[in-house]
Amino acid sequence: MNPVSTLDALYRWMLRPYLFGLDAESAHRLTLSMLSAMPPFSIPKDPPELAVKLWGIDFSNPVGLAAGMDKDAVAVSGWQTLGFGFAELGTITPRPQPGNEGPRIWRIREREALINSLGFPSEGMDAVARRIERVRKAGITIRLGLNFGPNKDTQLTGVAADYAALIARMGALADFVVINVSSPNTPGLRNWQSPQKMREIFDAIRERAGETPHRVPILLKIAPDLERDDLLRICDTALELKLDGIVACNSTVARDAVGVSSPHPGGLSGQPLKIRARELIHDIYAHTDGLVGVGGIASAEDAWLHIRAGASMVELYTGLIYEGPALAARIKAGLADLLQRGGFRSISEVVGIDR
Ligand SMILES: Cc1cc2nc3c(=O)[nH]c(=O)nc-3n(C[C@H](O)[C@H](O)[C@H](O)COP(=O)(O)O)c2cc1C
Repeated sequence: MNPVSTLDALYRWMLRPYLFGLDAESAHRLTLSMLSAMPPFSIPKDPPELAVKLWGIDFSNPVGLAAGMDKDAVAVSGWQTLGFGFAELGTITPRPQPGNEGPRIWRIREREALINSLGFPSEGMDAVARRIERVRKAGITIRLGLNFGPNKDTQLTGVAADYAALIARMGALADFVVINVSSPNTPGLRNWQSPQKMREIFDAIRERAGETPHRVPILLKIAPDLERDDLLRICDTALELKLDGIVACNSTVARDAVGVSSPHPGGLSGQPLKIRARELIHDIYAHTDGLVGVGGIASAEDAWLHIRAGASMVELYTGLIYEGPALAARIKAGLADLLQRGGFRSISEVVGIDR
């Protein structure tokens, strides 16, 4: 048995039944503590055809961890060991905050989905920055995206300043930064997806630009619950503001439209989101520079179709819960195989070919 199949079998027959016996947040905490104890083993080199160059940065493969799994950057070397090409850490807020009251994560097992209403629990930017500085010094090689959001008690007039403060404090520690204006669990946050509000944020960021020594690529993370015209307007504004890309998409507040009935409030992720996420990627591909596709990925085929729809790289979260820690390695092997069978020399050749 190869190591990936062994890890898959271990997860399926032992670890997942145990974790699924716990409430979802306890299972999450336990998983993170196991991963944080994992040393940065030297892992097999990624096949060269999976390499991606985006925003002038080399990524050894296009499979990343989505935001929310490791909000406080406690398990960075673990993500490297599992073979991810990058990890998007956060959402990080300027000041520490506890998030919403629990319970606040639920499994919808029959649909391989999750619902969460976490509301950005965060240790705050200073604590997370110190942790990232430590792992950077220890020589981790995985690329890091940092995902930023405002504090819940920040007044409306201070939201843009919160994003600017996060970039000023942490921008230099990131390979790229993600402005999260799309989580459904912070009241009013999604209103910042309008062109006028986006301008406010980016004016505030530019005002403090001198405090970040190098220019870090900045992406915007958007919600799947937007009308097509609004979406295109947002992407066009992002281009006009010279943002570097879009992360599409966050969890959805839809239920009936994606065939889920559940009394739980918050953002739905996983399999029911997949088709909507792919449509969205397809729709905005021509309106973005660097598109990171996320939503419902649980196999190499899923990642392949998001890439064919227009994503230069992909990310996953809920798939990891249901499929286990070997998923990134399995997706990479599957992508390399699909490339070879299709006669492609590199994953970049496939980006957007279904358009
Ligand atoms: C429990 C949970 C917490 C999340 N927290 C965040 C977050 O803090 N910031 C963010 O931008 N997205 C967050 N997300 C959204 C994911 O990054 C991703 O966009 C979404 O789950 C769709 O991907 P998936 O279907 O692979 O899970 C969270 C998702 C889950 C399931």
